[in-house]
Amino acid sequence: MIKINNKIFEKIISDVEIENSISRIANEISSLKVENPIFLCVLNGSFIFASDLVRKINQNIEVSFVKISSYIGTKSTGAVKELIGLKNDIKKRNIIIVEDIVDTGTTLSELFKILKKLEVKSIRTATLLYKPDSYHGKIPIDFIGFSIPSRFVIGYGLDYDEIGRNLPHIYKLKH
Ligand code: IMP
Repeated sequence: MIKINNKIFEKIISDVEIENSISRIANEISSLKVENPIFLCVLNGSFIFASDLVRKINQNIEVSFVKISSYIGTKSTGAVKELIGLKNDIKKRNIIIVEDIVDTGTTLSELFKILKKLEVKSIRTATLLYKPDSYHGKIPIDFIGFSIPSRFVIGYGLDYDEIGRNLPHIYKLKH
């Protein structure tokens, strides 16, 4: 059990289970033999998943870390999503998005909108964790580590108020 700011978290997925699941995903991706892919890792949560995943891919790939930020535009249009950190020219490239967790799917659909405008060739999505009961997106998710109940989780890159990212296992918030 882990305690952060008076909240109790209990272990639901161990480091060994995570590693096995990542090996499976890496094999699935490698066997597709996607031409010259760019792994687009969405910060901050995906940094550990991304580093474990890419080391198990047995072909030449590019790796890029991006962040999606929302800022208030100068006009009255409200919040605008922006992709920060993209160095590569991704036009006509095959993209593999690397996410720590897909919850409602809002982040993923925003990212798809941005990538489509940049005229990429194809987009696939890999996520370590997926909450099917919360997901209301239309985008199919190609590679899933674990489908989990719609409960708040931490560890292995995921945080609660920035704490917990370094935990090797995944923990859920206890009621
Ligand atoms: P979505 O846009 O609702 O799919 O949420 C995606 C983002 O919300 C993730 O990249 C996380 O940063 C955050 N998030 C969603 N669920 C959790 C959770 O259980 N623990 C920690 N962060 C979460």
